[in-house]
Amino acid sequence: MHHVRTAFIAWHLAKEASFSPASCRQTLLAALLHDIGGLNEQSRLAPLSYYDNDHNNHALIGGLLLAHIPLFKPLSDFVRYHHTCWDYGTGSVIDGEQVPEESHIIYLADRIDVLLAQYRHQDLFALRDMLTKKIQEGVNVLYKPEFIQAFTKIAARDGFWSVIQSSNYLDYIREISRIHNNTISLHNFRDIMNLLAFIIDQFSADDDCHSLAVGRLAGYLAKESGITPTQCLKTEIAGFLHNIGSLDRSSPHSPRHIWEILQPIEGMSDIAEWCMLQSSSKEERASGPAEQEILYVSHRTALALEKKLSTHGLIADLKLAVRQNEISPAIFHLTNDHAAMLMQIYQVTTRERRALVQHIDKLNHALNREKHE
Ligand SMILES: [Fe+2]
Ligand SMILES: [Fe+2]
Repeated sequence: MHHVRTAFIAWHLAKEASFSPASCRQTLLAALLHDIGGLNEQSRLAPLSYYDNDHNNHALIGGLLLAHIPLFKPLSDFVRYHHTCWDYGTGSVIDGEQVPEESHIIYLADRIDVLLAQYRHQDLFALRDMLTKKIQEGVNVLYKPEFIQAFTKIAARDGFWSVIQSSNYLDYIREISRIHNNTISLHNFRDIMNLLAFIIDQFSADDDCHSLAVGRLAGYLAKESGITPTQCLKTEIAGFLHNIGSLDRSSPHSPRHIWEILQPIEGMSDIAEWCMLQSSSKEERASGPAEQEILYVSHRTALALEKKLSTHGLIADLKLAVRQNEISPAIFHLTNDHAAMLMQIYQVTTRERRALVQHIDKLNHALNREKHE
């Protein structure tokens, strides 16, 4: 809930600070994504102390990841600088770069939520004066004075404290007018899911690009199978998301669990269904739609290529799958005809992912060195 709460607070702050409606919306979106650069448990937990604020690596990496997606590029600097203190105005510029106002808003919203999280087991309503004072004490040193003024106005409202106590994310979304009516194109959504696949792979136990590869292989095979462009995009998205359960450490990764994560999202029910069926028995899969079979064969292809099988090895594995009634002869022929291309897609995906991981590692090393100098 940290991202939803931070976004809720940031949106109120932006509105109160008279940001334009477009800037309020961008602040909200950036706040929803602000810790996306925390690519492991350690960097996720590091920024959870109110005063210990020396954790800029995930902010820089988050900015870098968002800059890869055209729809999110305008948000990348907001995220990049979201741990920048105001420091009597010196925080308005870093290394000659202007720090966006939105970053300072998100920084304040993030710190408010981190502080409130420490008292979440108590009645926040009763503690509101103490909490408000504690935040206000950061004026000028940590936070821009205008934004503290905005916070003071918000904190005076009973409504703010009653929502902020809730653990139901719908209470936050409902408060933010029109956000629930927003739609994005399937192409943009595919780009975002491509990034999510990268994050899923970073969190999975094996050091590979499994989710990214399954998505891309599935997208290619769907296109070659002649299904509609919309269904091709959806099949690709299903491939990116089929392992999404690995992000949730609290529950076992059952196929049903994946369905429960994806199904409530509008327009995702078929994708949720294919992801769930993908791990079911071959009898159940045999009666599923074409997209689901493409997803299964893409998964199997990625597993074979992860074992460093050659194109011949891949085809032999798929022939075995036909004999065992795991896949139909039709999907075997499609895969067989495009085996060389599938191999190429897998290799390009592996190289792309490796380059991004190396880039992130380099950034981490450079930042850590700076901190210790
Ligand atoms: Fe952060
Ligand atoms: Fe955060």
